[in-house]
Amino acid sequence: MDTVPTAPVPQPVLAGATRAAMFLVLTVEPGGHGAVRELLADLSGLVRSVGFRLPGEHLTCVAGIGSGAWDRLFTGPRPAELHPFQALRGRRHVAPATAGDVLLHIRAHHMDLCFELASLVTRRLDGAARIVDETHGFTYFDQRDLLGFVDGTENPEGRKARQAAFVGAEDPPFAAGSYVIVQKYLHDLTHWDTLSTEEQEHVVGRTKLSDVELPEDAQPADAHVVVNKVLDAEGNEQQIVRANMPFGSLSQAEYGTYFIGYCRTPAVTEQLLRNMFLGTADAAHDRILDFSTATTGGLFFVPGADFLDDPPPLPHADAVLVPVSQGRPATAPGRSSAVLDGSLGIGSLKPADTKPADLEPTSLEPANSPPAPEEAH
Ligand code: HEM
Repeated sequence: MDTVPTAPVPQPVLAGATRAAMFLVLTVEPGGHGAVRELLADLSGLVRSVGFRLPGEHLTCVAGIGSGAWDRLFTGPRPAELHPFQALRGRRHVAPATAGDVLLHIRAHHMDLCFELASLVTRRLDGAARIVDETHGFTYFDQRDLLGFVDGTENPEGRKARQAAFVGAEDPPFAAGSYVIVQKYLHDLTHWDTLSTEEQEHVVGRTKLSDVELPEDAQPADAHVVVNKVLDAEGNEQQIVRANMPFGSLSQAEYGTYFIGYCRTPAVTEQLLRNMFLGTADAAHDRILDFSTATTGGLFFVPGADFLDDPPPLPHADAVLVPVSQGRPATAPGRSSAVLDGSLGIGSLKPADTKPADLEPTSLEPANSPPAPEEAH
């Protein structure tokens, strides 16, 4: 019988806008890698369990793996460009790197489905993983951020989105994968609201109500959309696929944007971040940062769907330390975690597999050289 040739299938990175989203960042506990690997392999089944009955809700989940955790979860090669998130320290603004081994980006039109899936996942991971950040995002009116601007308009679509988001022939074992960078930003709305609408439009580079890009000669060099245009050597725009969501807490006076950007190489998003924080030849920094502070930063690789459904075996060192507990929620921040590998929980002799949340020293020089051109762009 003839076999049907199949192209590698990506995870639902390009699922598109939904009304609700949950972003979970987890770190793996000592001895927890076996349980995390098994959960990742079962993830698509759990999504079907929750979402199949309500197809109009468009429930999806994308899982990304951090650099430190990759080699502890899977034997075999690793994605060519996977590395820890690089913190940036500009003259005025800082992009911190924070801990994270696994990212779950859950989307649906209503939060109940996101919450149900997240709770099934975290119960499976009890004692094996710790939630270090949980953000519930919502759609704010007509796709606006909490600064009041429409966010996502210039995202690539269709073939362009696929070309921007997915690894191709440059790394065949990881084709259909994607690199994702996430950052949580908090807005200073008191400061922002002192600006007139016209001044705000100069910060972003687009009109507020009608969402039209300002004419080039009216765009300041430090406007957000100007700083975030990067061209390759042939003059082609280097694109990423964003799925930002507003989030907030009135009691904590938090008004935020969860930035999430997918790309076939982390180099493009990293160049955008250098432009924003370290500046360009024409701008000291992205003006949006004067009203928005980055509080987290993480980089993850999103393997293709086939890889995730049937991942390579656990490396031997961790295979003997598979957690035994199932059925309660994954440890929340601040809660003491039971160590499930049979030890007394005094600590692990293994080197830590996540970087601490402190900053790495980085250049203060403006950096605006475009990343190497991508052959398939
Ligand atoms: C405070 C957090 C952020 C907010 C509120 C924000 C908001 C916006 C808005 C309103 C637009 C214009 C409409 C659109 O095309 O989407 C935009 C464009 C864009 N943003 Fe952001 N953004 C944030 C962070 C970032 C970060 C961290 C990056 C990259 C690392 C980024 C990359 C881009 C890109 C590539 C565009 C499209 C530029 C163009 O070609 O016109 N944004 N953003």
